[in-house]
Amino acid sequence: MQGHADRLMAEMTLAEKIGQLNLLAAGEGLTTGAAQATPLAQRLDAGQVGAIFGTKSLASARAMQERALEGSRLKIPLFFAEDVIHGHRTVFPLPVALTCSWDLDLIEDTAAFAAAEAASEGLHQVYAPMIDVSRDPRWGRIAESPGEDPLLAARIAAAATRGFQGTGIAEQARVAACLKHFVAYGAPDSGRDYDNASLSWEDLLAVYLPPFVAGVREGAASVMASFNAVNKLAMHAHEPLIEGWLRGKTGFGGLVVSDYTGVKELTAHGLGPAPVVVARALHAGIDMDMVGEDYLAELPALAEAGIDAPDAGFAMSASDIKALIDRACHRVLSFKDRLGLLEDPFRGIGDTQAPSRLAGRKLARRAAARSAVLLKNDGTLPLGEAARVALVGPFAHDRRNMLGTWSVSGNSDDVVSLSEAVTALTGSEPLTAWGANIVDDDWLTRRLNVHGITVEPDPRSEADLLLEALEQARQADVVVVTVGEAKEHAGESSSSLSPALPPAHHRLVSALKETGKPLVVVVFAGRPLALGAVADKADALLYAWHGGIAGPEGVADLLFGAATPSGRMCVTLPLHPGETPISHAEEPTGRPFPGAFQKFRTGWLDLPDGVTRFPFGFGLGYGDIRYGAPSVSGASAPASDKVLLTLDIENAGDREAVETVQLYASDPVARITRPARFLFDFKQIRLSPGERREVVFEIHAAQFAYPIAPSLETAEWVRDPGLVQLHVGPNSRDTQTVDLTWDS
Ligand code: BGC
Repeated sequence: MQGHADRLMAEMTLAEKIGQLNLLAAGEGLTTGAAQATPLAQRLDAGQVGAIFGTKSLASARAMQERALEGSRLKIPLFFAEDVIHGHRTVFPLPVALTCSWDLDLIEDTAAFAAAEAASEGLHQVYAPMIDVSRDPRWGRIAESPGEDPLLAARIAAAATRGFQGTGIAEQARVAACLKHFVAYGAPDSGRDYDNASLSWEDLLAVYLPPFVAGVREGAASVMASFNAVNKLAMHAHEPLIEGWLRGKTGFGGLVVSDYTGVKELTAHGLGPAPVVVARALHAGIDMDMVGEDYLAELPALAEAGIDAPDAGFAMSASDIKALIDRACHRVLSFKDRLGLLEDPFRGIGDTQAPSRLAGRKLARRAAARSAVLLKNDGTLPLGEAARVALVGPFAHDRRNMLGTWSVSGNSDDVVSLSEAVTALTGSEPLTAWGANIVDDDWLTRRLNVHGITVEPDPRSEADLLLEALEQARQADVVVVTVGEAKEHAGESSSSLSPALPPAHHRLVSALKETGKPLVVVVFAGRPLALGAVADKADALLYAWHGGIAGPEGVADLLFGAATPSGRMCVTLPLHPGETPISHAEEPTGRPFPGAFQKFRTGWLDLPDGVTRFPFGFGLGYGDIRYGAPSVSGASAPASDKVLLTLDIENAGDREAVETVQLYASDPVARITRPARFLFDFKQIRLSPGERREVVFEIHAAQFAYPIAPSLETAEWVRDPGLVQLHVGPNSRDTQTVDLTWDS
C-alpha cells in the first residue's frame, strides 16, 4: 500500500525534495504573524527547510510551522529538534553521572520526563541519548557519555530510548530519540575532541557499536553521525558503516542526520571540494545536512550532471544522485509520517501539557543522590544534623556549574546551592569560605573567555582565601571541602591534557587536612579526574559530578544520611592523568613474564605499583553488605544449556541499601586476546536492614561470542568451547571467581 510519504514523493519536484534534506538552527526564531525576512524566514518561504533545531518556545515553533506550510506547495510540515541531553528545563545529572546509578528504571524515568517537557514545547526529536563509550578522561565529552563499558552503555541506550519514545514517537509526551554519535566518537586519538579513531574492527564491533545495536533494537527512530573518522574514513562519508553496517546489519530503518556542519567538514578531512563531499555524504547515508546547507547548494547541479572526481577516487552519475536524493527524502518524509506530522502538521505543537516542575525536581534530586559515588568513608559520613559544618571551596554557593555541560535549556536559577541545601536540611547555616578559585591558570581562563564564558575568580590572593578557609574550619566540627572543575571544562571541544584536580584545590585540601578536623571531600566534575593525594587525605570522599538542578540537594541528602549512597563508578578513576585511556577491560600482555624477566613489565616507571584505587564499578554505601560464596548449576555444560550462577547477598547494616551485584567474565583461551575481564551482567537489589536475598544470573554460551574482523566486511562473531571464568562481586576488582567449561 502506498503510504503518505510515497504519495508526496510522486508529486514533488527535485528542488522540493532537496529542501527536505536541509536541517537548520532556529537562531532567534520567528514570531507569529510578523513579516520577517531573516535568512531562516527566506528559506521557509522558499520551501527549503526540512526541520529546525534549537527552537526556544512553543510560539516560535508554531510561527515557523505556519511559515513553512505557507512556503510549501504540498504543505509539508517541519519537525523540531533540540539537544535534550540530560533533561530539558529540568536538568538532571550529567549522563556520565546518571550512568553511575546503574539504575535503568531511573534513567528511563529521566528520559521520559525530559521527553514530556520537550514535547510540551513543540519538540519532536531530541539529540539523545549520547551513547559514545569512552575510556579517555581527557576527552571532554566523556561528560555526556555512558562511561567505559559497552554492556552498561547498551542497557542505557535501550532504557533512554524507551523513556524518550515510549511505545511510539507520535504518542503525546514522547519524542523521537536520536542515537549519537555514530560511531567511535568517544575514542579519539590522544583524547582530542573531533580527532580520528584508529582502532581494530574487533574493538569497534565489541566496544563502540553495541550501544547502537541496543538502541536500534529498542526502536530508536534516528541516528546522528559523528565528526571523527574511523580507520581513515570520516564518518559523514562512511558508507560501509552507515549504509553497510547500521542499516544493512542492524536493520535500522530510521533517519540519519549529520552533525553540525559535518558534511562541509569532509572537505577539511581531505575528501574533496563541496560537490564531491556532498555526493559522498549522501551516498554514505546522511539523510539530512545540519546547518552547513551544502546539500541545498550542491545537489541541484549534481542531480543535473553527476560527478566525476578522479583525484578523490569518486564518481557517480546524475541518475544515481537523483536516486539518492529520493532515498534521503523518503526517509525524511517517513520520519515525519511516524511522528504523525503528515496527518496533522501541528501535532505536538501545543497539545501536550508540561509535566509538573515539582515532580521533576523530586526526580532530579533522587537522581542526583543515586548518581554520586561514595569512594571513601572512615565513618565520618553520614554527618549528624547537629554537626557544626564548615563548607569550603568554590562550589559551596555555586549554581552555574551544577547544571553541567549541554544543558542548553536549563536555568541556573533553578539550582539550590549546596550551602542552601545544607541549611534547608539541617536547619542551620554552615560556615562557608571560598577557599580557592575554580580556575587559577591565566591561560585556561583566557581560553574559557574565548568560548564566551566569563569565569569570575575571587580577586583575593590564594593565601588570603586559604587563611579565611582555615579560620572557618577551625570553628567547625567537620570540614566539607568542594573541589573540581567548571562546567565548561568538560564538554564539547574541552579536551584536557591533564584531567586532574587543579593544583590550588590540592593545596586547599592539604591545608584543611592540617587542621586535624574530619575532612569530607566532595568532587564536582564532568569527567573522571585523577585525584592524586587528595584521595589519601580525605576521611570521606564523594564523587558528585555536575548533578543538575538538584545536584547539591542530592549531595546534602547523602552527607546527612537522608539518602544512602548507592552510586558505582561507570568509569575507572585514574590515579594519574598519564594513565589514560583506561578501563577495567584491558587486555593481558606478555609481561611481566613469570620468573626471569620481572623487571620488564607493563605500566609506568613513575607510577607506584598497585591496582587503580577506584576501579570501574566501585562505590560504597552506609550499610554492611556481605557477599556469600557463588555457585554454578553445573561446572560444565553443553552450549545449548543455560547455567545459573547463584549467590546470597546480605545487608548486615542497620540502613536500607541498594546493592549493584556485578558479574564479570573472562575467556582465558581464545583465537585472539580477549579482555582480562569484561562486564557480563549486573543486578540491582534493594535490601532492608538484616535482609538476605538470593541473586541468580543466567549464563548462556552465546554471550561469550566475540568478533574476529580482518575487515568490517569479513567480520564474524565466533565462540569457542572450553574454560571461561565468572567473577562476581561489588565492583570489577573485588570479586570471587567460578570456573565454567562449555563442552561444545
Ligand atoms: C554536537 C552534537 C549536537 C549538535 C547540535 C554538535 O556540535 O556534536 O552533539 O547535537 O551540535 O547542537
